[in-house]
Amino acid sequence: MLSGKKILLGVTGGIAAYKSAVLVRLLVKAGAEVRVLMSQSAKQFVQPLTFATLSKNPVFTDFYNPENGEWHSHVKLSMWADLYIVAPATANTIAKIAHGIADNLLLTTCLSARCKIMAAPAMDLDMYANAATQSNIATLRERGCLIVECGDGELASGLSGKGRMAEPEEILGEVERYFDSATVSPTAQDLSGFRALITAGPTREKIDPVRFISNYSTGKMGYAVAEELAGRGAEVMLVSGPVQVTAHNPRITVVPVQTAGEMYNECVRLFPECDIAVMSAAVADFTPETTADTKIKKNGDSMTLRLVPTKDIAAALGKMKTEKQVFAGFALETDNEMQNATKKLEAKNFDFIVLNSLQDKGAGFGYDTNKVTIVSRTKGTVAYDLKSKALVAKDIADHIVDEIRVKQI
Ligand code: CTP
Repeated sequence: MLSGKKILLGVTGGIAAYKSAVLVRLLVKAGAEVRVLMSQSAKQFVQPLTFATLSKNPVFTDFYNPENGEWHSHVKLSMWADLYIVAPATANTIAKIAHGIADNLLLTTCLSARCKIMAAPAMDLDMYANAATQSNIATLRERGCLIVECGDGELASGLSGKGRMAEPEEILGEVERYFDSATVSPTAQDLSGFRALITAGPTREKIDPVRFISNYSTGKMGYAVAEELAGRGAEVMLVSGPVQVTAHNPRITVVPVQTAGEMYNECVRLFPECDIAVMSAAVADFTPETTADTKIKKNGDSMTLRLVPTKDIAAALGKMKTEKQVFAGFALETDNEMQNATKKLEAKNFDFIVLNSLQDKGAGFGYDTNKVTIVSRTKGTVAYDLKSKALVAKDIADHIVDEIRVKQI
């Protein structure tokens, strides 16, 4: 996928630098040629030797080699690269890039870069939330820099919140997506003029004002489908349960919901105006029969929670579906995978179903990768290798385009 692509990786001084070593491995594995630049403080977290070994290229940190005076030209480096990734990008480096400060090799290379710059911020939650950092990130975005959003979770400080560098697999997905969308191919805008409805993430079924029932869905797969369809020209309505991922493409409108009931209402409202629908949400199958208005107190006894079924959104849309609509769903199975997926394809009137097996390592909730089999009425069964969710989304979009052709929409 990245064969022949020249990628420069700037590593700055944050604990997430160790994750950048994994990123180099993934980029090289995907076929890219990688060169690494490190700031002085990055070397306190990871040895240059690690990056040199993984990238199979010398690592640059200074303007020149103090031993023989050889000059490391930032101009040459930036001219060489097809993409310059800064990961981790500390608050300090982000601020310096935003203000054109060039006091190390990594930064001078940024200033002279003719290629796209992608930054993966990593810092403590308060530094990230600080208005100065947010304004610097916004400046970078305005100037065309691609920002790989931070994740939410445990931070090196021991605090928990937004500021973790995106996982290497997620950054790889963004890199692949960038090169894919940068490739001018006849299929690049093949969904232009189409409207798509995507569901993503989990739902939350309320027990009382402070408790709910939910599942481990992160929404990454649904968001990747939304980005792919929007990247190919579609207008996307993304009905999303509560997730940490964000949508980047301006053609995506996020419709936030909490419960299965809310997701149902939004989907039924939006579906008639859409040409395409992909049901990737992990919708709760049951919801508490009643929601307490006040916090339920313990009284020493056991308690029984009576659950009632939620409405099956996909089944309802399957009934509303017209000949001209392409309708796809997911099936997450632990056993009898093909049999269950085929049953769901029929029962919900999907044109094709994307089967995830929890038996496959690297597939399912939380991972940045997925391994799917697509079962379609027109094309039969196609099993795919383990790949990033961004690339799985591409396979799904290709299936959608095929269905559009078959239906002659
Ligand atoms: N789905 C939906 N609404 C629901 C339940 C599921 O739209 N209330 C959709 C999912 O988004 C997915 C497909 O139906 O596209 C299959 O979901 P899955 O959870 O695998 O199957 P279920 O129908 O819930 O069946 P089961 O949990 O018994 O496997």
